Amino acid sequence: MKNTHELIEKNVGLLTVLILVAISLGAMVQITPLMFQQQTMEPVKDLRPYTALELEGRDIYIREGCVGCHSQMIRPFRAETERYGHYSVAGESVWEHPFLWGSKRTGPDLARVGGRYSDQWHIVHLRNPRDVVPESNMPGFPWLDENVLTGELTAKKMEVFKGFGVPYTDEDIAGAKEAVRGKTEMQALVAYLQSLGTHLK
Ligand code: HEC
Repeated sequence: MKNTHELIEKNVGLLTVLILVAISLGAMVQITPLMFQQQTMEPVKDLRPYTALELEGRDIYIREGCVGCHSQMIRPFRAETERYGHYSVAGESVWEHPFLWGSKRTGPDLARVGGRYSDQWHIVHLRNPRDVVPESNMPGFPWLDENVLTGELTAKKMEVFKGFGVPYTDEDIAGAKEAVRGKTEMQALVAYLQSLGTHLK
C-alpha cells in the first residue's frame, strides 16, 4: 500500500490522470442527477410562454447587452430576497433558450422587475436613466423609440422555440406577425421587462 502511494506521488503523469478521474467522477455525481430531477425540468404552475411582443423584447435585451450589467437570478439569501423578492427557482427557466441569468451586477437583478414600475417609468428610464435616477450610470437607449418592428421573423422564432419544447400553439404562431408589426422596440422591451418573474405565485 505504501509503495502504491509512493508510486503515484512520484509519477506526475499517473497523478494527473488519477486526479482527472477523481474530479470527473465527483462532477458526474453532482451534475447527472440534476438532468433527471423533476424539479429542474418541470415548469412552475403558472408559467406561460413569452408573447410574440415579449419574445421580440427579449431579443432586444440580448442585442443591447443588458445581460452584461444585469443578472436575472435571485439567490436564496436573506439580503437578496429582502431586496428582490422570492429567490429564482429552476421551474421558471425551463423555457429560456438561452438562459439570461447573467453573472454581473453593475445594476440591480431584474428577475422580478415585472410589475415593479409602470410602463411609462421604464420608457423614461430607458431613454435616459438619469431622468429618473440621477446617480445612474446606465446608458440611455433612445433609438429603441425610433426602431419599428416588422414582425418578419417573429413566427419563425416561435417555431424554433416550439422545437425546444416551448408550448406555442398554431394560433400563437399564426398571429405573431400581426401582434408585433408596427410596435416600437421600446414597446417590445418594456413588455418583456414587465413579464419578468411574474409567474411564480
Ligand atoms: C453599463 C451597465 C448597464 C447596462 C448596459 C444596462 N443597465 Fe440597467 N441599470 C444599470 C444600473 C447601474 C442601474 C441602477 C440605476 C438605475 O436605476 O438607473 C440600472 C437599473 C435598471 C433598471 C431598474 C431596476 C430596478 O429594480 O430599479 C432596469 C429595469 C434596467 N436597468 C433595465 C436595463 C435594460 C433593459 C438594459 C438594456 C437595454 C440595461 N438596463 C442596460 C446598469 C446598466
